[in-house]
Amino acid sequence: MEISTSILNVKQENCIRTFYDLETAGTDYFHIDVMDGTFVENNTVKIMTEYCEYLNTITRLPLDVHLMVKDVQSYINSFLIFEPRNITIHYEASNNSGELLNWLQYIKENNCKAGISIKPDTEIEKILDILPYVHTILVMTVEPGKGGQKLLPKTIEKIKELKKYIIQNKLEVDIEADGGINIDNIKEIKEAGTDIVVVGSAIINSSNYRETINKLKE
Ligand code: DX5
Ligand code: ZN
Repeated sequence: MEISTSILNVKQENCIRTFYDLETAGTDYFHIDVMDGTFVENNTVKIMTEYCEYLNTITRLPLDVHLMVKDVQSYINSFLIFEPRNITIHYEASNNSGELLNWLQYIKENNCKAGISIKPDTEIEKILDILPYVHTILVMTVEPGKGGQKLLPKTIEKIKELKKYIIQNKLEVDIEADGGINIDNIKEIKEAGTDIVVVGSAIINSSNYRETINKLKE
């Protein structure tokens, strides 16, 4: 299982040092939480843009961009310039599946993997038809909007069902889980069928990134 470290709560002072430390500690990706102040209350556009600029110059580790935005098309464009590994958009941001498929197609045409994300209350049935067109399904395990929340246990069942569906239909889709994941609950998340875990505060607030990432990967 791979770890994508959310840099949402990385402090601006010393951020370059923090990014270096996270890379040497063994994170597989940097998870970029883009919030627009509309789809969710917080706005992280400026800071995440700045962080991506730094990351582009100091690391070759892949960027995992999670767009919690309403104006999906313009933010896809704003973040494509950083050549991320993938861009994940929210099912709930679209008005219809045609629009959603267009955005996913646009991401892929720009040499980027495309992901779809669902909020805790969105049923997986809503996105099953879209799975053949994505590389990743990101299951929110907390309400999107801020870091440091507690994982909602009901979301683990969704991961299990998705895993079953993906295997049964021989799809090549990674399951990514995002929010409230820590050393105490990661085993359950993994066993549910998760391929990539997003971890923010459990790593960033720890005193030793390497030790924490090793424990999470054990
Ligand atoms: C929530 C974000 C997550 C989250 C991860 O809206 O998508 O990436 O902040 O941080 P922790 O691990 O602190 O929940
Ligand atoms: Zn995220």
